Amino acid sequence: MKKLILSLTFLLAARLVFAVEGMWLPLLLGLLNEKEMQGMGMKMTAEDIYSVNQGSLKDAIVQFGGGCTAEVISGQGLLLTNHHCGFGQIQNHSSLEHNYLEDGFWAKTLKDELPNDGLTATFISRIEDVTAAALAGVTDDMDKKTRQSTIDKNLDAIKKSAQKEAWEDVMVRPFFNGNQYFMFVTVTYKDVRLVGAPPSSIGKFGADTDNWVWPRHTGDFSIFRIYADKDNRPAAYSPDNVPLKPKHFLPISLDGVKEGDFTLVFGFPGRTNEYLPSYAVQQLVDVLDPARIAVRDKTLAIWDGAMRSDAQVKIQYASKQAGLANAWKKWEGEVLGLRRTKAVKKKQQYEAEFMKIVTVNPAFAKYQNLLGEFGQLYKDIEPYAEAKAYYDEILGSNVEILRLAGRFANLLKAYDKNGEAGMADEVKGLKTWLEGFYKDYRPEIDQRVFAAHMEMLEKHAGKDFQTETLAQMLANAGGSYEKLAEDLFKNTFILDPANANAVLGKTYEEIYKAVALDPACQLVANLRDTYNQKIAVKYNEYNDRTEALQQTYMKAQMEVFPNRKFYPDANGTMRVSYGKVQGYQPQDGVTFASQTYLDGVMEKYVPGDYEFDVPARLRELYEKKDYGQYGENGKLPVCFIGSNHTTGGNSGSPAIDASGNLIGLNFDRVWEGTMSDYNYDISLCRNIMVDARYVLFIIDKYAGAGHLVKEMKLVHPKKSGGEVKKTEKTTKPLRKDQGKALKPVVTEDQ
Ligand code: ARG
Ligand code: GLU
Repeated sequence: MKKLILSLTFLLAARLVFAVEGMWLPLLLGLLNEKEMQGMGMKMTAEDIYSVNQGSLKDAIVQFGGGCTAEVISGQGLLLTNHHCGFGQIQNHSSLEHNYLEDGFWAKTLKDELPNDGLTATFISRIEDVTAAALAGVTDDMDKKTRQSTIDKNLDAIKKSAQKEAWEDVMVRPFFNGNQYFMFVTVTYKDVRLVGAPPSSIGKFGADTDNWVWPRHTGDFSIFRIYADKDNRPAAYSPDNVPLKPKHFLPISLDGVKEGDFTLVFGFPGRTNEYLPSYAVQQLVDVLDPARIAVRDKTLAIWDGAMRSDAQVKIQYASKQAGLANAWKKWEGEVLGLRRTKAVKKKQQYEAEFMKIVTVNPAFAKYQNLLGEFGQLYKDIEPYAEAKAYYDEILGSNVEILRLAGRFANLLKAYDKNGEAGMADEVKGLKTWLEGFYKDYRPEIDQRVFAAHMEMLEKHAGKDFQTETLAQMLANAGGSYEKLAEDLFKNTFILDPANANAVLGKTYEEIYKAVALDPACQLVANLRDTYNQKIAVKYNEYNDRTEALQQTYMKAQMEVFPNRKFYPDANGTMRVSYGKVQGYQPQDGVTFASQTYLDGVMEKYVPGDYEFDVPARLRELYEKKDYGQYGENGKLPVCFIGSNHTTGGNSGSPAIDASGNLIGLNFDRVWEGTMSDYNYDISLCRNIMVDARYVLFIIDKYAGAGHLVKEMKLVHPKKSGGEVKKTEKTTKPLRKDQGKALKPVVTEDQ
């Protein structure tokens, strides 16, 4: 009896904890979440958020540039996203003369808005559950290959028969580790222009020191605009394109938030793994995260030093450094959070609970050995997974010359596979890629990174998986990694743009010979061989089995705990998270409030500092307390936190109030809570948002770009009177219920 009570309490506790956890599919909100959301204070219906019959919140949300989220905030396609999401574009338009990273950028008229090659914004027209059709003919005893080919055929048929307009696309994605499938009909706009960005001293205030940390004071936003053809449809960039007329745009609330307010975050979270066994989390904490962190520690130390001492390098390496530093710091927080919340132990308890039910129920006999198999598999894969972590980091993102040499080495592969035509294609692609590469490349910096990482690779991955070329080169250099680097950087032809392009202009045989004889290309080819032959074969074999087992484990968890509400792991598709504005206690004796103010910016201000400088104009506005309609009791709100479950990809996602108005812009998570990708824990997991009023203040008061604010629709949902009649554009009369704002406000176009 005591046991039974214990296990019941565990389940109940688990379900309580799961209340705000989750990234939910918009089309299932009515079924799974609406009641709970309304119980938390939401005044909308599920249909207001996601509808296929009328304009709804989802029609204002786009996937931005593949990796971020953005939202439409005016009837003319104005788009709000993070500064760090537009960072690459802002950097691209920057030079020492027009340094938009440093000074900010504000287009005065439509004509001044800057086009961005390759930047896209994707709307979701509708989502459908296609599980039955996708898994038709699939049986439990099928081997992996047959299963996949059956599914692939089914997916092809689903896509072919999907009803869609000529300008729409269709994609189908697996959910719950391949136990369910959903179809997405999408519309992708290809002309997205830069409209405005604050200086980095606002948009990236606090930079790496403050990244992933609360309390936060960053104005992490930038503004773009979607352009369409005359029929409001997607079109490649053209000067004739016109601003998009959206189906819906988000009104912006000037009323702000207070502790306990309902919040909803709507966007495209990238990847989470909430249903892994304890073994996987243990390996992450003890082996994989530490390996990746160690590699980036070294690179960042070298890059940071170079960036601080050279303004040109600071621009060239800004984007690369931000990307590398971001994940590096996240992994550190992740390890800390997983340890502090005893995530492994929590998983083990959950597994014990799972086994208890499995053992007494004959229907679950097939799941008896599942966890034991996981234990063995994670043990078997570990050395390969660790080596892979080093290889991925070093060859993939830390040592630039290896990426460059890899591209050259691909020429030979292309020739071996498809002859001259293959190589011609590859040469063409490479020439364009090289332009971008050399523009932001400093060999003298990379040479030091290369030396550090060849040593790292040898000492870690190399102890079990040797590469002969590297060993030989090192011996030739008398055992010195610095000398090895010096020799290689001197003797390769690929670092000099003129040389490299001259070679690419030669005959195919000459190109082949030059690349085959080049030391950097030889080294990379050999490192790849080591990886492919000694590491990847085994890794893939174990990994395939782990994935298949995870698919079974996912299904098993749903069967064994039928009362638990499951949400699918993030996979880059559209999701809704909801929670409350909420402070937290990171450690004993410390409590964090949920809101920060401009006062905090000034507390952190260090004149001339790389990370904490504050622009003169902002200091002046602070001195005068000139906050206009954006202040609150003489203070200017800057950021706030909530218990919404978010991850990478949710950057730029709107934070939405109980009635469907924009109150903030998601851009980060707190340090102790970055482990929410594996173990969401309401005690520590918070997402960080920049307050919409700070965004408006910076646009209007700081930058003097009030013409943009005029395009938007500002509302007062909490105060009676509702909409703010400040602009000529927002002429729509107020509804009676606007003070309580029951429906999301629709655009004038409808
Ligand atoms: N941590 C946030 C995210 O994952 C913000 C990153 C940009 N900021 C930075 N200092 N690198 O994207
Ligand atoms: N900054 C992240 C991004 O780029 C969002 C923060 C997070 O990972 O939660 O998507």
